[in-house]
Amino acid sequence: MQGKEISLAVIQRLPRYYRYLGELLENDVVRISSKELSERMNVTASQIRQDLNNFGGFGQQGYGYNVEYLYSEIGKILGLDRKYNVIIIGAGNLGQALANYTDFERRGFNIKGIFDVNPRLEGISIRGVEIQMMDNLAEFVGKNKIHIAALTIPKIKAPQTAKEIVALGIKAIWNFAPVDLNLPSDVIVENVHLAESLMRISYTLKDLEDRNENSETLKTEEN
Ligand code: NAI
Repeated sequence: MQGKEISLAVIQRLPRYYRYLGELLENDVVRISSKELSERMNVTASQIRQDLNNFGGFGQQGYGYNVEYLYSEIGKILGLDRKYNVIIIGAGNLGQALANYTDFERRGFNIKGIFDVNPRLEGISIRGVEIQMMDNLAEFVGKNKIHIAALTIPKIKAPQTAKEIVALGIKAIWNFAPVDLNLPSDVIVENVHLAESLMRISYTLKDLEDRNENSETLKTEEN
């Protein structure tokens, strides 16, 4: 498996497999066939077999997949057996919401620090982590190994701040600011744009409405 190039499309589907398998585990399901998994996940069984074959295929003909084993192997592939230290830059609405969300820790992402420039926020504690001023960032990152910085600041500030964070040695940015960061290619940038998700909903709704309208028109023409 080592060194084998896995397509991005497969990697992007893995978190969903992971979530479904986690639910099966919680319900004490020991094994599952690709057919059953495909019915639950609404993807074809052959897609599932193809995807999981990338990793040497954890299934056995006629037996199905061992849920616990598959869950833990996919977890390893996603790097979820490791721990990551995260800082949040920007303790406004979104930054505080992220800091308040406990599920990231369950996945191995620990919020180690929260930073802002607004002195009114200094010292406020969110689930035991105090908001610090940006002046402390360099020292903090020097003392603590930080893997990921979540960027939840206004978009005009984001590109410059991202450069500063990268200069401190942080290699992954979880970018929520609606702006392209243009960082060196060895920096991992994961953009999360809820508005883009909404636009996809908007497109699908529009498409659906247009099709309904067309079929209404057809019906009227037929009558
Ligand atoms: P907010 O105004 O509540 O919070 C922004 C915080 O950043 C403030 O506390 C401010 O003092 C701080 N800040 C400003 N400049 C800073 C700097 N240079 N360094 C550190 N902290 C700094 O805004 P909100 O609603 O939390 O949004 C934050 C960002 O996230 C915005 O860019 C917004 O457009 C974006 N956003 C993105 C979403 C997404 O789906 N990706 C959804 C909602 C917001």
